[in-house]
Amino acid sequence: TLLIIDFGSQVTQLIARRLRELNVYCEIHPYQNVTMDLVAKLAPKAVIFSGGPDSVTRDGSPRAPEGIFELGVPILGICYGQQVMMHQLGGKVESGHGTAEFGRAYVSPAGERIPFLNGWFLDGKEQVWMSHGDHVSQLAPGFEVYGTSPNAPYAITADLSRNFYAVQFHPEVHHTPNGRTLYENFIRIAGFSGDWTMGAYREQMIEAIRAQVGDKKVICGLSGGVDSSVAAVLIHEAIGDQLTCVFVDHGLLRKNEAEEVVAMFRDNYNIQLIHADESELFLGELEGVSDPETKRKIIGKLFIDVFQKHADTIEGAEFLAQGTLYPDVIESVSFSGGPSVTIKSHHNVGGLPEKMGLKLVEPLRELFKDEVRALGHELGLPQSFIGRHPFPGPGLAIRCPGEITREKLEILREADAIYIDQIRKHGLYDEIWQAFVAILPVRTVGVMGDGRTYDYACALRAVTSVDGMTADYYPFSHEFLGETATRIINEVKGINRCTYDITSKPPGTIEWE
Ligand code: XMP
Repeated sequence: TLLIIDFGSQVTQLIARRLRELNVYCEIHPYQNVTMDLVAKLAPKAVIFSGGPDSVTRDGSPRAPEGIFELGVPILGICYGQQVMMHQLGGKVESGHGTAEFGRAYVSPAGERIPFLNGWFLDGKEQVWMSHGDHVSQLAPGFEVYGTSPNAPYAITADLSRNFYAVQFHPEVHHTPNGRTLYENFIRIAGFSGDWTMGAYREQMIEAIRAQVGDKKVICGLSGGVDSSVAAVLIHEAIGDQLTCVFVDHGLLRKNEAEEVVAMFRDNYNIQLIHADESELFLGELEGVSDPETKRKIIGKLFIDVFQKHADTIEGAEFLAQGTLYPDVIESVSFSGGPSVTIKSHHNVGGLPEKMGLKLVEPLRELFKDEVRALGHELGLPQSFIGRHPFPGPGLAIRCPGEITREKLEILREADAIYIDQIRKHGLYDEIWQAFVAILPVRTVGVMGDGRTYDYACALRAVTSVDGMTADYYPFSHEFLGETATRIINEVKGINRCTYDITSKPPGTIEWE
């Protein structure tokens, strides 16, 4: 095990992620919980101190247990972690005017080349990401400097006799492009073999789920998306029929989607599944509604009602499973109570656990999207499922600006299916974050054969993105667009005009509502 002591940095999970990428097993524990008893139990082969928001110069600020420095294992301190190390080992840290540094910086080599810096400084300087208020003003005994930046003379330091390393910047973030190499060097120094895999994660999570749930029952809301699917399959592997999934079909799904999801879970996995076909209810309540936020609120509320109704039929359920990912955790932490504006009320089953008195099972809480996909692979989910584009909870309702009618939904489903078929045929599906058709609330005049038509216009949307937070439109060829428009207009009755949406996000959003 590699123990990460979390001093509260926003990016601690990124350290874990970098280590998982290097096939090293690690555990994150908040500093308050790290006693020498816990350390003895974990018997870590190496320890990393994360960054954190506090100042070591403040009385009562977080510390590492003293005994940790006597373990004889390599330690890497990052940012606040560096300062804690220096402070506790006899160096000095200062805060105040002129010591803060945020953003990009360049570190140059100093002193001899050490194994920790293998692969670094090959072209002279290295770009790093700094984010600190305090700085080290005097090194602890035994430490030497191996890298400096104009504002951080002690950017990289080490006590080679004890294998203690301390850096002022954050090697785990994207803006330290060569940061991964430092983790690689560190784990090599610590003697990790790098043989930990997603398979091991699966085994470990199965054990953890069994330990948490015992012989109680779990319900899981299934959307057919990657996250809830992977969570359901994993939990099913752990506890079998103690799990029941509820799939709420709001009548706003894509062509054949409900059948595919239900077949996949019942036939391939033998998972107990309630297929709640509530399209009448949802479409009824949405009749005549055209305001986007009102649509979202109605759908969100009904979703919870329906879920609860079905969940109530499962006797003895004490747990609710959710496919919450790490970015969701971070977002809800950093935005809760924050000054951010609601652009769209995203709906999920948040609020349900308290309302129903259920405890949460969230086996994907530590993972990022691509890691969830890797875990899905490991669990044998078909690639067609794992690679699926995200689909919003309110479904086609938000791809149908204006009033929603069954007729429009039917037209939209057909057009969308052709569009996705085209994208797959051209081998573009995996390059695109998300692609869909929106049916517009206008009819336009056209001519087909010798007749006049007066039908709906539609917009095609396709974007690239890494996280859905920002996005750019996908640069299809004119041939592709022309061919696709022709197919949609010829094959879908009710559409006679096709446009391509070339708005990025911001200022647009990915969905139309
Ligand atoms: P926007 O349209 O806000 O979308 O740029 C960003 C990403 O979020 C998806 N999305 C949702 N997902 N419930 C969801 O589960 C929602 O209410 C919702 N609204 C948007 C959208 O499809 C895109 O991937």
